[in-house]
Amino acid sequence: MSDQKTILRALAGETLPTPPIWMMRQAGRYLPEYRATRAQAGDFLSLCYNSELAAEVTLQPIRRYGFDAAILFADILLLPQALGADLWFVTGEGPRLSTITTQGDFDKLTSIDDIDETLNPIYETVRILSRELPSETTLIGFAGAPWTVATYMIAGKGTKDQGPAHALKAENRPLFEALIDKLTDATILYLSKQIEAGAEVVKIFDSWAGSLEGADFIKYALEPAMKITQVLKHKHPGVPVIAFPREAGEGYIGFAKATGADCVALDNSVSAEWAAQNVQKDGCVQGNLASSHMVTGGQALVDETRAIVKAFSGGPHIFNLGHGITPDADPDNVQRMIDAVREPALA
Ligand code: CP3
Repeated sequence: MSDQKTILRALAGETLPTPPIWMMRQAGRYLPEYRATRAQAGDFLSLCYNSELAAEVTLQPIRRYGFDAAILFADILLLPQALGADLWFVTGEGPRLSTITTQGDFDKLTSIDDIDETLNPIYETVRILSRELPSETTLIGFAGAPWTVATYMIAGKGTKDQGPAHALKAENRPLFEALIDKLTDATILYLSKQIEAGAEVVKIFDSWAGSLEGADFIKYALEPAMKITQVLKHKHPGVPVIAFPREAGEGYIGFAKATGADCVALDNSVSAEWAAQNVQKDGCVQGNLASSHMVTGGQALVDETRAIVKAFSGGPHIFNLGHGITPDADPDNVQRMIDAVREPALA
């Protein structure tokens, strides 16, 4: 057991003296080496589809900081693109997609059996990484959860309240559900291929799960995560799944048990003490430092990091941020956080 990678040990339910650590969006614009490689690729999407350069930016934060996990460099919106949606990024604003609001729009999507034509370079990135990563580093593959991906496909962009997706759900539920089902099946194929290429863990990002309430949360956040997890576990026994129903609040309670996920990732809207009592009692949790500390730094960063490590010290825990690191973060603050986790006496 003890020669296993630390992240895999935590995901198997082991309580470790020092939690393993990685960071959402650890390869990103806060790093000068990322910005240089992105410029070399031309733009963000070209970087995602250039397997050599995508592997390079995945490795950059591992070289710089020695994180315990590397997350594949890609994006949750590559899957809609593989399904036939137009996708582009507007500098300073974010993603844009062709919209899906009618049955006709939905019918124009390609068959899920054709997604690999677009996604093959992503599997190649995974293969390169599984050769090149240090032996102690775990490789995490990922996809967006169906609801979160659907919110972008329906609105054609990021939205604050996911209004267009909620509107389609209210006005044309059969169409909305057909989209969720198609994304669920496509996500299973996509993650399965990542695992076959060498991903050792997969994470499902449901960034907008918090805007689903009551029965909708069960039907469109929990049930798709459950189906994806169950089919993957059947096809690839032993490959752990991390679920991230961001801002689920009370919905975090029992989410791992209900879906079969091995770990629930926590945003920073819940306190570590509350989550230790109510969520970690069922198994591994990941999180949950506010990413703003990576910008502001100082003693507050060290204190809050230590408090989170302490709150989760009674059970399996992977240290992470509550959401992705932002471009204005200071790379030195990342090192300070790592020191505070790994060498609390020195920080
Ligand atoms: O975590 C990692 O380092 C792995 C790579 C990764 C990216 N996006 C790279 C990226 C992962 C796991 C994602 C997930 C993702 N993408 C999510 C779910 C997690 C979350 O943040 O809530 C979502 C909602 C997206 C969609 C997306 N991609 C948006 C809204 C944006 C624009 C916002 C921004 O930060 O610019 C992106 C672009 C994006 N994805 C960047 C990166 C490094 C920045 C692109 C650039 O270099 O210009």
